[in-house]
Amino acid sequence: MTERTTEVTAPTDATDEVVTRAVGLLRRGGLAALPTETVYGLGANASDADAVRGIFAAKGRPADHPLIVHVADAERAERWAARLSPAAAALAAACWPGPLTLLVARAPHVLDVVTGGRSSVGIRVPAHPLTTAILTEFAAGGGHGGVAAPSANRFGHVSPTTAAHVLTDLDGRIDLVVDGGTCPVGVESTIVDCSVDPPQVLRPGGIPTEDIHELLHGRLRDASGPSRAPGMLAAHYAPRAKVLLAGSFAELEQMELMHPDAVVLGVDETMVELAHDLYARLRDADDRGVEHVVALLPEPVGLGHAVRDRLLKASAGRAG
Ligand code: TXA
Ligand code: MG
Repeated sequence: MTERTTEVTAPTDATDEVVTRAVGLLRRGGLAALPTETVYGLGANASDADAVRGIFAAKGRPADHPLIVHVADAERAERWAARLSPAAAALAAACWPGPLTLLVARAPHVLDVVTGGRSSVGIRVPAHPLTTAILTEFAAGGGHGGVAAPSANRFGHVSPTTAAHVLTDLDGRIDLVVDGGTCPVGVESTIVDCSVDPPQVLRPGGIPTEDIHELLHGRLRDASGPSRAPGMLAAHYAPRAKVLLAGSFAELEQMELMHPDAVVLGVDETMVELAHDLYARLRDADDRGVEHVVALLPEPVGLGHAVRDRLLKASAGRAG
């Protein structure tokens, strides 16, 4: 891996200066962490194979884990797809910009290094003003205007929801961090595989599964069996601390008695607050050297689908 000097924009920097800086860097093949409404992404020009390879090196991510292509708007998204099925078009119209990733048949120009050689590509239109401005300006320079971006963490770690989290994982490994404040949603996008019929939710996320179900008039298959999204293995999204899950308040109280120093999640906050703070609190537990996190496992309802999924993965422990 090439060592890099990591610069960070200041939250007070003028937007057009930040945009010019980030876009110039992306065009030169650099690596820029960008804020989104879900988590920070580690972006590179999706049409530059060397730049995309840099993402894998910086993260320590296996090369067969495909990346999501981020674009400024739905019209731009269509250029990355061979075609959008009616289901994909309906979800795109209802949810973009927003925390939804669609897997669709890829357009011929999409690089193998982005899709891990798959015939499908993941596409998303994020909803963060700074990143929308960067993606719009990047696309205005010609080409296909896509930025490939996984979450901006080292492989297997918890996703970053602040610029400081990105630096903890990737300082010296990437060129720029665009500080756009704390990510408002806090958990990753919902991934819907529209390359199969009926479509399938491969990763619950910022858009509740019920909403996807409703938008598709119930034409949604259950994602049973082993996940077809590499990177959705157990032993991802994990802190160093041991995460213990309670199925009831009584069980949670027992766990708290056994581990009085534990960080406790899921009791005093709404599901929106828990999603928003989840990764920051797991990271904070590690920073303070806390050994246990105890969490009340939420019901699979609304954002609870995503929080439940990440807590189950976090409780499986860290990869490697
Ligand atoms: O909210 C998000 O989705 C964030 C922000 C930065 O946009 N991104 C994100 O990317 O979470 P990442 O790479 O950490 O997770 C994307 C997941 C991975 O598990 C990857 O394997 C899967 O999506 N994926 C992407 N493209 C795929 C494809 N063509 N087929 C199957 N799985 C795919
Ligand atoms: Mg990730």
